[in-house]
Amino acid sequence: MSKYIIRGGVPLNGSVTISGAKNAAVAIIPAALLVDGVCRIENVPDISDVSMLFGILRQMGARLRDLGGGTVELDCTSVSTHAATFDAMRRIRASYYLIGALLARFGRADIAMPGGCNFGGVRPIDQHVKGFTAMGASIDIKNGVLTATTDGGLHGASVFFDVVSVGATINIMLAATTADGVTLIENAAREPHIVDLANFLNYMGADIRGAGTNVIRIYGVKSLHGGTYSIIPDQIEAGTYMAAAAGTGGRVEIKNVTPKHLECISGKLREMGVSVEESGVASIVVEGGERFRKIDVTTMPYPGFPTDMQPQISTLLCLADGTSTVTEGVWDNRFKYVDELAKMGASIRVTGRTAIIEGVSGLTGAPLRAHDLRAGAALVIAGLCARGTTEIEGVSYIERGYEDIVGKLRSLGADITSIDDTFDASEAPAEASAV
Ligand code: EPZ
Repeated sequence: MSKYIIRGGVPLNGSVTISGAKNAAVAIIPAALLVDGVCRIENVPDISDVSMLFGILRQMGARLRDLGGGTVELDCTSVSTHAATFDAMRRIRASYYLIGALLARFGRADIAMPGGCNFGGVRPIDQHVKGFTAMGASIDIKNGVLTATTDGGLHGASVFFDVVSVGATINIMLAATTADGVTLIENAAREPHIVDLANFLNYMGADIRGAGTNVIRIYGVKSLHGGTYSIIPDQIEAGTYMAAAAGTGGRVEIKNVTPKHLECISGKLREMGVSVEESGVASIVVEGGERFRKIDVTTMPYPGFPTDMQPQISTLLCLADGTSTVTEGVWDNRFKYVDELAKMGASIRVTGRTAIIEGVSGLTGAPLRAHDLRAGAALVIAGLCARGTTEIEGVSYIERGYEDIVGKLRSLGADITSIDDTFDASEAPAEASAV
């Protein structure tokens, strides 16, 4: 298994191009199951979560052609099974989008459920089940397999979510696209990837209105046709490079971004004293200063500060003057990485859902282990900012969601290499930790 070796203290400089959004890609790829014909999808990120999903669809009979440069042609017309109960399904959280997609297509879905998660707490699916049930499905979960059945297909329904859930919003949108009648989702998630999925489906002939607000109306259509669609840039990958640029005191132009999607991150970085400027329609320039100012952050569903940037901003706040607080408002617990940062000299105390971070004068390189995707990205940032050498194990988690992170950082001047270490069975991501 690989590990990263980082010699820190080098300011990042230059420009980096952001890839397509992971969390949009993992929704749009299963959505192709609803389409009669070929979907040409552009700006597909080259990350392991996406290759795992492609592998699952291929196993079900889909045809995939890689045209290079992030463009693929995906044709699910010949998929004839409603069952996806093989092992690969358990390795990726987003495989549960196949429930909505297969229910829409066949009126039935048998799905191997993803395992537990790695950033602590539970990841329930009660809101997904509530939505499917309202639309006429019966759900049964036994021995890790979820079976969803209908009596002749789904019908439109009103669904009110008790918590704002990205996954449940996406799953119900998928299920409702070709259902009989109108579906109303209230208290829907508003993340950019929700809008991207709605745009993809609408391009292919769906009638979905209101995505990006908390009320989404889906007018069921008979069928969808093929077409071409380009996935939006990854908000969190961009935010991660913004944090890395700021933390190392460098100056980086971040290209292929949607600045509006980054406002929640830019705002907090500016509060810390970081310069963030738009430079054209699809790029921003981030420049770090001497020391950061302390801030308080609470993660919230979009347009709030994203939970998927929580470990990265906490890492920067280790280098701020004074005491900052970071409160996790989405997940029960997402602070496992704190023990790793402590090995580098960080001073963080976690009480309940809040991390209290006392700024220190600097971090020192140490051997570390990534326990999930964003925690892993935060450790990379910490290593880049630290004095000395940092070794990070568990990098397969990072590569689930960051395309060529080592190559991109090296192009900005970072001293980071990926080396093949001896096999370490504990590193294999057998459970769904990334999505
Ligand atoms: C999505 O996960 C993302 N994954 C996560 O990205 C992200 O952290 C999360 O949304 C929040 O933004 C993908 O898009 C593939 P949720 P999801 O349903 O959909 C509770 C990353 O690093 N909840 O919005 O699984 C849940 O426990 C990751 O890229 C219920 O109570 O998250 C949590 O507290 C990891 N019942 C909150 O809602 C449900 O039925 C938000 O979860 C569903 C969720």
